[in-house]
Amino acid sequence: MVYHEIYEIKGCYKLIRSLIKGVGSYAPPKVLTNADLCDMVNTSDEWITSRTGIKERRIARDNVTTADIATYASKAALEMAKIDPLEIDLIILGTVTPDMLFPATACMVQHRLGLKNAAAFDISAGCSGFIYSLSIADSFIRSEKFKNVLVVGVDILSRITDYTDRATCILFGDGGGAAVLSANYNGGRGILSTHIHAEGGHDDILKLPAGGSCMPASLGTMTNRAHFIKMKGSELFKYAVTYLKDVAMEAILYNNLKPEDIDLFIPHQANMRIVEATAKKLGFPMEKVFVNLQKYGNTSNGSIPLALDEAYRSGRVKEGDIVLVDAIGAGLTWSSALIKW
Ligand code: UT7
Repeated sequence: MVYHEIYEIKGCYKLIRSLIKGVGSYAPPKVLTNADLCDMVNTSDEWITSRTGIKERRIARDNVTTADIATYASKAALEMAKIDPLEIDLIILGTVTPDMLFPATACMVQHRLGLKNAAAFDISAGCSGFIYSLSIADSFIRSEKFKNVLVVGVDILSRITDYTDRATCILFGDGGGAAVLSANYNGGRGILSTHIHAEGGHDDILKLPAGGSCMPASLGTMTNRAHFIKMKGSELFKYAVTYLKDVAMEAILYNNLKPEDIDLFIPHQANMRIVEATAKKLGFPMEKVFVNLQKYGNTSNGSIPLALDEAYRSGRVKEGDIVLVDAIGAGLTWSSALIKW
């Protein structure tokens, strides 16, 4: 236990943690393989596998939206948490592909799940959106503003991916997940700390140029393919390797731990080479690193909760384990959370 986690309330000390009571995820059934992409752009399975580790990704049907995936994933998380929907105080949803610019997709999920007592808002923090949302939820719980918060991370990147651009279309997929956080007044298990950062000077490295107030939708933006992701891949790669290591180490040191104390590391599922380089810098053997990017590609806000749910349901995470998650994305933003499961 570290001193800054203990709150003095009316002369009594108490430790409140946000316990992850339930997790859930959903990935659409339709699979887009490397072989499929070879029919669409000038690429090869060998190039994609060796440069990214990705073999396939999931693609949502045209009539499936981010709110749909968020609802499926949240239902599973609520079932696992065995919590009355009316007890959820807040929904925070990280996404870069909301159903609409407004209202917030979180509001749609709130309505569909009948979470009548929950406030709801979206977070835009690139691929860090889920961990940013965890951080906000954790603050609300530790400050005793709320007891139960639903945190969701979902993206349908296929809607903003340019399938004529081989440098980006091989990376992205659709899917997401959710977690139910509840106040744990007994200390011990729960989120140990979160760490969030941004560097807006790097806003040009990864962006969706059109559709906002800067470049409203027009015939010109359509013609120029400005409604699709633009990415400076190799520049982002360098930042990813550095910041994912730094922010993971920040979480470890903040909790007076060492890398060997971590039971499972779940990094942002962007690229196998980034995952391996980060793990190596941190001194984690690959057995301690959870990877599912070969099946889903990079699902942005979906990446961490999809992996967290799969890690839990496959038995890779057990009660009491120390789990480290981190992510980097557009902004740039980068973030980590350390969880005692
Ligand atoms: O979610 C946010 C986090 N996202 C990331 O962290 C993504 C980070 N970046 C990456 O994962 C990698 O930069 C990529 C996988 C996107 C690209 O890998 P790279 O090793 O950085 O390749 P590159 O962009 O330097 O391109 C190398 C070569 C180029 O050809 P020349 O100029 O050397 O002749 C590209 O045109 O590979 C070519 N190339 C391809 N070749 C076959 C680029 N994409 C492809 C492709 N198939 N799909």
